[in-house]
Amino acid sequence: MTEIIDGNAVASEIRDGLSEAIETLADEGARPGLATVLMGDDPASQTYVNMKQRDCEEVGIEGTHVDVDGDAPAEELYDAIDDLNADPAVHGYLVQAPVPDHIDYREVIRRIDPAKDVDGFHPENVGRLVAGDARFRPCTPHGVQKLLEATAVDTEGADVTIVGRSRIVGKPLANLLIQKADDGNATVTICHSRTDDLAAKTRRADIVVAAVGVPELIDGSMIDDGAVVIDVGVNRVEADTEKGYELVGDVEFESAAEKASAITPVPGGVGPMTRAMLLYNTVKAASLQEQ
Ligand code: GUN
Repeated sequence: MTEIIDGNAVASEIRDGLSEAIETLADEGARPGLATVLMGDDPASQTYVNMKQRDCEEVGIEGTHVDVDGDAPAEELYDAIDDLNADPAVHGYLVQAPVPDHIDYREVIRRIDPAKDVDGFHPENVGRLVAGDARFRPCTPHGVQKLLEATAVDTEGADVTIVGRSRIVGKPLANLLIQKADDGNATVTICHSRTDDLAAKTRRADIVVAAVGVPELIDGSMIDDGAVVIDVGVNRVEADTEKGYELVGDVEFESAAEKASAITPVPGGVGPMTRAMLLYNTVKAASLQEQ
C-alpha cells in the first residue's frame, strides 16, 4: 500500500506545538510578531499572504500586513522595510515574491535585517546554512525535512534526487540533506533543465523531490519501486472548474503513486508544511530577539 503523506496533519501537529511556545513568550511580554509585505496585486500572492495571516491568527502570532502600490518607486518598498527592521514588535517578516519588474528582489532581500529574515533568503542566512550553522532554515526545505521525519523516512545514507535548483527550494534543501547529524546524511543529486537523462537520475533515487515548476514532469516510469516521492510543485493549469484552473504538482500523481512507497499529494502535501515552518521561524526569531 502506498502511503499518502498528509501534510495538513503534520503541519497541524507543528502548529499545536508552536501555540504552546507562543503563549509562553506572550506571558513573558513578548508575543511573536510576523509581518507580510506585498507589492502589487498579484492574485496568487494575495492568496498566499492571506493564508499566512490566517495562520498567525490561529496560533496566536501578532500578524500585520503592509501593502505597497505596484507602481511605487523602490524607495517606498525600502521605507517599509526600514520601518519593519526598526519595529521591536515585528520579530520576523517577508516580502512576498514575485515583486514588480522594476524592483530588484536581491536588493530587497539584502535590506532585510537578517535576524528578522524568516524566509531565510538573506545572504548572511544562506551563508550560515551552507556553513552548517543555520539560523533560519528556509520554510519549504525545512517542511520537506519535517515531512520525511514524520513519515519515518530515514535519509541516512539514502540517495536523494532533487529536481530543481532554485534558491528557495532545491539548493537549500540539498545543502541541508547532505549535512550531518539531524539534517540528513544523504547523498544528494541536483537535477535541472539541462540535466542529461533525468529519468536515470530519478530512477536510482530512494527519495525523489520534485521542485521544478513544470506540471507533471515526473511520472511513474521515472520512479523506482518503493521510492518516496515529495512533490513541491504547485502549478495552476487551466481546467473546467469554478475558478477556471486547478492545482497540479510536478509529479503525475496516479502513475507515481503506483510505484512509490509514500508520496505527497498536491494540494495537501508540502504546501501546509511551508506555512507551518514560517510560523516556526517566527517563533525562533522572537525567542532569539527576546533573549
Ligand atoms: N513566493 C513564493 N514562495 C515564496 C516564499 O517562500 N517567500 C516569499 N517571500 N515569497 C514567495
